[in-house]
Amino acid sequence: MPTFHGDGPLSVVGIPGSLRDPSYTRFTVRLALAGAEEAGARTHLADLREYELPYCDGSQEQGEVGDVAKLREEVREAEGIVLGTPEYHGGYSGVLKNALDLMGFDEFEGKMIGLVGVSGGRMGGFGAMNALREVGRALHAWVVPTQTSIPKAWSVYDDETGEIDDEELGQRVREVGEEVVRYANLHEAEDKLDFLRTWECATENPGAEAR
Ligand SMILES: Cc1cc2nc3c(=O)[nH]c(=O)nc-3n(C[C@H](O)[C@H](O)[C@H](O)COP(=O)(O)O)c2cc1C
Repeated sequence: MPTFHGDGPLSVVGIPGSLRDPSYTRFTVRLALAGAEEAGARTHLADLREYELPYCDGSQEQGEVGDVAKLREEVREAEGIVLGTPEYHGGYSGVLKNALDLMGFDEFEGKMIGLVGVSGGRMGGFGAMNALREVGRALHAWVVPTQTSIPKAWSVYDDETGEIDDEELGQRVREVGEEVVRYANLHEAEDKLDFLRTWECATENPGAEAR
């Protein structure tokens, strides 16, 4: 797929909202980033375990604390963001919300966001992802339509390697990353002809077959 982003491939950053080790959320974000790479993007995993972040208190000064500036810069320079969350009591994780609250429009406005989730139970991560969709809107980002969750994540992932033992689900997760790149490319198109050419080369709508 062509990219029309001036000097090189689009950049997509993935933020998994779990600090656990091993984390199925992190495995899932990695898979989505692999999909983004297949679609031509360069990617970066912002593993929140590696960032020293304070609890957000809403003050300007927090931009200088710990690794807040580093996280902000990494997200600011990306055109697409994959947010991953575990289902926690029917919502998304506090770790992820805190990281998002330390950022704002400068990092998210006008960007594409893709959502992936995991759950321990069989109902999946939809409570978390649907609530995160609203957070994306409030940040003035474009949350792409495709979202994927892995129910009973413990039953499909290898804790050691992070490999997923369900090809179809794995593909659905990769498609989230692909779709972020697809729409980010369209968004970056410099004129209508670029837009049309990009649209014609875009990955197929994964939901089309089901209709
Ligand atoms: C505080 C907490 C709340 C949870 N709530 C739910 C829930 O509502 N539904 C569910 O299916 N699983 C729930 N789980 C299970 C997690 O979704 C599951 O363990 C998941 O794999 C955690 O993500 P991680 O592997 O990335 O850490 C909960 C786990 C924790 C720690």
